Parts: sequence; structure tokens; C-alpha cells
Amino acid sequence: MTRFENTVAVVTGAGSGIGEQTAFQMAQEGGKVVLVGRTVSKLEKVADRINEGLTEPRADIFQADVTREDEVSKLADFVQRTYGDLHVVVNNAGTSGKSTIMEMEETEWNRIQNTNLKSVYLVSKALGRVMAESSEKEEGNRAIVNVASLSGHKAGAKIPHYSSSKAAVINFTKSLALEFAPYGIRVNSVSPGFAETPLTEQGLRNKRFEEAIQRNTALGRVGKPEEIAQVITFAASKEASYMTGSDLLVDGGWMIK
Ligand code: NAI
Repeated sequence: MTRFENTVAVVTGAGSGIGEQTAFQMAQEGGKVVLVGRTVSKLEKVADRINEGLTEPRADIFQADVTREDEVSKLADFVQRTYGDLHVVVNNAGTSGKSTIMEMEETEWNRIQNTNLKSVYLVSKALGRVMAESSEKEEGNRAIVNVASLSGHKAGAKIPHYSSSKAAVINFTKSLALEFAPYGIRVNSVSPGFAETPLTEQGLRNKRFEEAIQRNTALGRVGKPEEIAQVITFAASKEASYMTGSDLLVDGGWMIK
């Protein structure tokens, strides 16, 4: 398939896990991807994986902490200067932590909210402007996909900061969709259940935790990052041309059990 030919895409948190897979799949289908993250060595590894064997590279890297407006603004300048056009943004960068509400330090609350929610606002604002400007010059598929979570749909015992940030991402997505629709930009969120990535690695090393996920998931297993990425790329592609303001739950059937 070549769904992303003539497409410029930015993927945040692309140095590992779901973001890496999403960028990889988009590039495999002809897209040019800008890999965004804080650690250059991780981004370079992913870029090498994507560009391997290609005569013309399809992956660029840009170092940025997406919780910082100055760095996100430099990212928008870079995309504008380098490509002069932008079609897809995947707000994937995220992090988690564990604490009860009564024990949680304010710094920990802010760390999670800034990484998972504020970053989506900052990136969508800065890159959304680039997308809106380019949409005036040329029509075509333009989409933002925000990575939320199954946790955004339910109470989160010991992860109240994480689950509330993801619930907010799902709602923020709807407001963005409304504001960006006149520019022909669709905005949707994808809510993964448990997938095997560096984020969940430590938890999944605990056999009891892994067994609990298997027991509580209709499909009886943990997901793979590529299975989440496939849904993200669908939402980003023109196959989803009539979908905006929606959330796609990809949880192996956790919520139905
Ligand atoms: P991951 O840890 O492999 O990926 C997250 C990436 O975001 C990392 O490369 C990290 O360095 C980057 N990142 C974090 N803070 C950043 C910042 N301030 N600026 C730039 N980059 C930053 O984990 P995974 O699982 O691939 O996570 C991707 C998204 O999927 C996250 O938003 C996460 O909350 C969400 N998710 C993951 C689930 C899972 O089971 N793996 C379940 C539900 C949601």
C-alpha cells in the first residue's frame, strides 16, 4: 500500500514503542516522517531502520521536548522551512507513573499532565497552524491523531494523574476537531489497551500483572505496538476521510469484559 505517498508526517515520541512503529509504517507506505523526541541517539536508530536500503531517505529527526513551547515552535519552523507543507501529526509522546492521590507530589502531577496533555495542546497549536496554512494552498488528506489510552475511559487506581490526562486528551481531541474542520483537518484519538513497549516493560516483567491482563482481555493477550500503529495510520490516512472527533479503542476487548 502507498497511502502516505506525497505525505509529510510528524510523529512525537518516535524513538521507541508505538511512535517508532507508526513512523515506520507510514514511511513504508511512502510517507516522509519527522521523528520527534528528546534523545537523538534513539531517534537516529529509528531513522536508520526506516531509511535502510532506500535511495532517498524518508525519515528526518528533530530533537524537542514537546512540553516546551519554545522547542515546539522551533519544530514548526523546521517543518515549514524543510518541507513547506504538512499533512499528518501524531501526538504520541507520553509517560506514566504510579501513585495514589493522597501520596502524589505536585511535581509528579505536573510531569504527567504536561507530557500527556499540555504537549498535545502545544504541538497541535504550532503544527496545526502550519497544516492550516498549507491546506489553503492545496487540498488533500490532513489529519491529527492523538494517542490517548484505555485508561482515559475508566478510573485509574494508582494512576489518577495518567488516566485523567488521557481522558482530557480524548475530550481535547473533540474540540480540536471542531476548530480544525473548516481547514479540512480531521482530528481523532486512538486509545490503546496494554501493548508491549518500553513504557509497560517493567510492569509486564511481573508475571502476575501479565496474567491479569491476559485474564481481563477478551483476546487473552497483550497487544503489540504494530497493532496499535495500524489503527493510528488508518485514522491518519484518507481511508478515514469522514471520521473526525472520534476515539478508536484498541484494547483487545478489555472494556467488554
Ligand atoms: P514509549 O515509552 O516507548 O514511548 C513514549 C515516547 O515518548 C518515548 O520515546 C519517550 O522518550 C517520548 N517522550 C516522553 N516525553 C517526551 C517529551 N516531553 N518530549 C518528547 N518525547 C517524549 O511508550 P509507548 O507505549 O510507545 O507510548 C506511546 C503512547 O501510547 C503514550 O502516549 C502512552 O501513554 C500511550 N499508551 C501506551 C500504552 C501501552 O500499553 N504501551 C497503553 C495506552 C496508551
